[in-house]
Amino acid sequence: MASSYSEVYDAWKQDPDGFWAEAAREIDWFRPFDRVFDPQLGVYGRWFPGGETNTCFNCLDRHVASGRAGQDALIYDSPVTGTVEHWTYGAMLDEVVALAAVYRDLGIGKGDRIVIYMPMIPQAVFAMLAAARIGAVHSVVFGGFAASELATRITDSAAKLVVTASCGIEAGRTIAYKPLLDAAIGMSRHKPAHCLVFQRQALKADLQTGRDIDFALAVAAARERGAQAPCTPVLATDPLYILYTSGTTGQPKGVVRDNGGHMVALTWSMRHFFGTRPGEVFWAASDIGWVVGHCYIVYGPLLNGSTAILYEGKPVGTPDAGAYWRVIAQHGVTTLFTAPTAFRAIRKEDPQGDLIGGYDLSGFRALFLAGERADPDTVGWAEAKLGVPVIDNWWQTETGWPVAGNPIGLGLLPVKYGSAAVPLPGYDVQVLDDAGHPVGPGTLGNVVIKLPLPPGCLPTFWNADERFREACLSEFPGYYRTADAGYIDEDGYIFIMSRTDDIINVAGHRLSTGSMEEVCASHADVAECAVIGIADPIKGQVPAGFLVINANVSRETSDIEQEVIGLVRERIGPVAAFKTAICVQRLPKTRSGKILRGTMQKIADRESWKMPATIDDPAVLDEIAAVLQARGIGISSR
Ligand code: COA
Ligand code: AMP
Repeated sequence: MASSYSEVYDAWKQDPDGFWAEAAREIDWFRPFDRVFDPQLGVYGRWFPGGETNTCFNCLDRHVASGRAGQDALIYDSPVTGTVEHWTYGAMLDEVVALAAVYRDLGIGKGDRIVIYMPMIPQAVFAMLAAARIGAVHSVVFGGFAASELATRITDSAAKLVVTASCGIEAGRTIAYKPLLDAAIGMSRHKPAHCLVFQRQALKADLQTGRDIDFALAVAAARERGAQAPCTPVLATDPLYILYTSGTTGQPKGVVRDNGGHMVALTWSMRHFFGTRPGEVFWAASDIGWVVGHCYIVYGPLLNGSTAILYEGKPVGTPDAGAYWRVIAQHGVTTLFTAPTAFRAIRKEDPQGDLIGGYDLSGFRALFLAGERADPDTVGWAEAKLGVPVIDNWWQTETGWPVAGNPIGLGLLPVKYGSAAVPLPGYDVQVLDDAGHPVGPGTLGNVVIKLPLPPGCLPTFWNADERFREACLSEFPGYYRTADAGYIDEDGYIFIMSRTDDIINVAGHRLSTGSMEEVCASHADVAECAVIGIADPIKGQVPAGFLVINANVSRETSDIEQEVIGLVRERIGPVAAFKTAICVQRLPKTRSGKILRGTMQKIADRESWKMPATIDDPAVLDEIAAVLQARGIGISSR
């Protein structure tokens, strides 16, 4: 391995506190921290206790003060509306100050929660930063989620305010957000006092008197009266945001991110992992509703004094598979970060990469892929067509920044296809068997991280320390359980192969099959069901539901299947991409009644499979295989 990475990783291992104290110098503190890490605080310890700072100050004010006022902080590029806007650090600070003043006038203060349900528009970024400015805690909800998912998040976070827009624009259709929000508030056990609604040209929303406020008018009024909103000092350990992510039940987990550790880790990652310098243009083609969007559309680039791209479009169809190359060339992007699924979609439309030739990509240095395993085929294609390093990196909403990857900022290590490369400083990654014993190189097992987790990782779940302990820390004492299965080879390279729980990855989006099963089971005619993720050439995985219908039901099964598909779309959202529901006579089970989802998945994915020794009735799996084959889904080989 190249010496720079080894030296840096060893330096961290030998003196973690010294390493992170040094990294913390890149951040402006209002009051220095008392200790780098205190193992006695919180669930497994807390980073930088006693330190006072402000994330918005570090993202905007200090850059304006040090001469970056005229540099682009954010470039909004929206092929779906035909808009490009450049927001300098100075202009963005003005906007954020005015919005923070609006929040304050609405009675929002330090520690209060603000839910942000917004499409990919600059106002969404302002909404996050303005919350950070006054010490409020934001919780961004992805626009593709349905009203009931939004309701769960409003209830759990007990948000005082919801910031939204009148609509989102997906390629080819406008999605009215306001009716979804109204429905969500109707369902929510907690009612926010106000909703701030940004009216978009494409579709205006009706505002409810007393509760709803026009975003742009309120901001303009605050600016007109010269409203000030200084940065509220917060503790490094105070929460910056809650980001809900799929857990193994229908109840999403509220991942908490603190202020201090988050800033330190992201700044370190921007420089030393991504190798991005201040002033350079960094593009994470994700959505602000996901962790990648939080960290690398908003906070990482701004903390680093870089320019972030906010792209409201798709890799294909807006207008074509050359969209990414157009953005890179037009805005001088040096680094692109996206999910492999985007590249599979591009490759399908433009297999030879012909559209790449039409753009000047000479300033483009590296492509980072995450969110799902970067399949070697896609990595190879991207490398060949783009001629830049293609870097798989593995992490999760919980960790908040890459656990493993090839650290281009420290000097690129040899690439191994299919591997997320090496652990980054801060992470001691190990593989354990189910009994908690370490396994040897090349042996598949549970991928865990030795505690403490580094700065930037979650300290706990929102209002749920016990759930955090149970879900993440109790199975392997002394370690954080990633719920990923994989192995580490003899060179220390990490290979992440699959999840150990019911989470599936659909176009880089993390979804729980358990929560889809809850929705399927709620249909009056469904007696029992199983949802599995099956392989998809573009999205990686898509869900498929198997439904056993109640004995007394004589309706057409195709009608029930369509109703269940509609229910999942309505309750979870279009992002679930739940388009396959199949009525079957029985589900395959073990003698103890456990549904054999893994074997069903193998059959659907055309992998070889063995009849499980514990199966109750082998004929059921043959029935499932026949039904799948009839639908053209899987031809099993046994
Ligand atoms: N608001 C409302 N609806 C949304 C939405 C949003 N913000 N985002 C997605 N949806 C809808 C889509 O319109 C689609 O609806 P449909 O079933 O009516 O077609 C559905 O949710 C699924 O969306 P998506 O997963 O984006 O699939 P797609 O077929 O529209 O596009 C890709 C497939 C691969 C092009 C797309 O997923 C993509 O660009 N991925 C990039 C990577 C990425 O964003 N990863 C996130 C983690 S890094
Ligand atoms: P999310 O919390 O949405 O970021 O999803 C995290 C999960 O996505 C991880 O636990 C993995 O299962 C999967 N994942 C993310 N990145 C990778 C990667 N580079 N390789 C393999 N799996 C990944």
